[in-house]
Amino acid sequence: MNAPLGLLTTQQFLEEYWQKKPCLIRQAIPGFEPLLDGDDLAGLACEEMAESRLVSGTFEAQDWTLANGPFGESDFAALGDENWTLLVQDVEKHYAPLQALIQQFSFIPQWRLDDLMISFAATGGSVGPHVDQYDVFLLQAEGNRQWQIASSFEPDLLQDCPLNVLKRFQPEQEWVLEPGDMLYLPPNVAHHGVALEPGMTWSIGSRAPSTADLLQGLGEWLAYSEQEGGRYTDPDLKSPERAGEINLEALQDLRKLMLSGINENQKLDNYLAAFMSRFRLAHDPMPPPAAVSPEKLLEELRNGAGLFRNPWTRLCWVESPTGAHLYAAGQSYECSTWLAETLCEWEKPRISAEMLDQASLETLTKMINSGHFLLTHKD
Ligand code: SIN
Ligand code: CO
Repeated sequence: MNAPLGLLTTQQFLEEYWQKKPCLIRQAIPGFEPLLDGDDLAGLACEEMAESRLVSGTFEAQDWTLANGPFGESDFAALGDENWTLLVQDVEKHYAPLQALIQQFSFIPQWRLDDLMISFAATGGSVGPHVDQYDVFLLQAEGNRQWQIASSFEPDLLQDCPLNVLKRFQPEQEWVLEPGDMLYLPPNVAHHGVALEPGMTWSIGSRAPSTADLLQGLGEWLAYSEQEGGRYTDPDLKSPERAGEINLEALQDLRKLMLSGINENQKLDNYLAAFMSRFRLAHDPMPPPAAVSPEKLLEELRNGAGLFRNPWTRLCWVESPTGAHLYAAGQSYECSTWLAETLCEWEKPRISAEMLDQASLETLTKMINSGHFLLTHKD
């Protein structure tokens, strides 16, 4: 599949731009036809499962307001013709055909990609100049939007504002994006998009955990694992000299204890991959109403059933001495590297009954019974 990078090869893009500098790609997807429109997005924003926001205001007036969904029809009826934006996260998970768009970004590892966020803006609509911590591809899907960016900026935020909007913003570059154009931004580049007419920007966002995210997750993981790591011991305890003091030796022992939780490479790698398969996942996959047996699964596959990845399941795998550890929304499975790689082929892995040995069949059965894959039948 061709990457939507215009004349750039993926290697050129990764070497020159990824995490380094912004890149405007005119007609990244020529003739782009969005599968959803503003009304579809508004419909989605009324659903409980969807994470949506309505932002109104302008940078000039600094009169920002923010409301979180789910919304009702009256919320949209109350909006004027100008200066508002509706944003919905994870749209490709709610509307699976859009996963084909995310697949066009396969030159980035799956585990680094987050979601498709769609914003529909009325004329003048904007979320204000701001800075994100993630790489993002801003694909103009409908209407024209002006984007201004600045790599150097004052980080001060507007006080008493419900959004993270920069107090001052001096653009260094600006463009008008038309449908099919795309702007790539690395983290920490200030940007300000203003709709010149009603239209949509589709943001393909990446995810990058912070140290705090990783350590918080590690603590939770240890707490739920059988042994919760070691516990503080002090067989050579001496009576304290000063009331209330934690002495330097005790601090050193505490530090050692804490670091022992992150010293075992293999254990830690398992944790990291499991963590990444859950990080920024808004909903956990639910087990199906009725469990399937391996025999039944084989029969279904022989009868032409297909597999479909639950859109809320993030998958990733790491090689192990015996094959692969495959992680699905925080759960882990042992399997062959072939099965791991094949199941990770985006939303519809091509697996037929003949390809499965007994171990693979059992792993797949477990994954279906945990809700990570759904069986689809031919009509
Ligand atoms: C927007 O679509 O207006 C906001 C997207 C972004 O700035 O990341
Ligand atoms: Co942004």
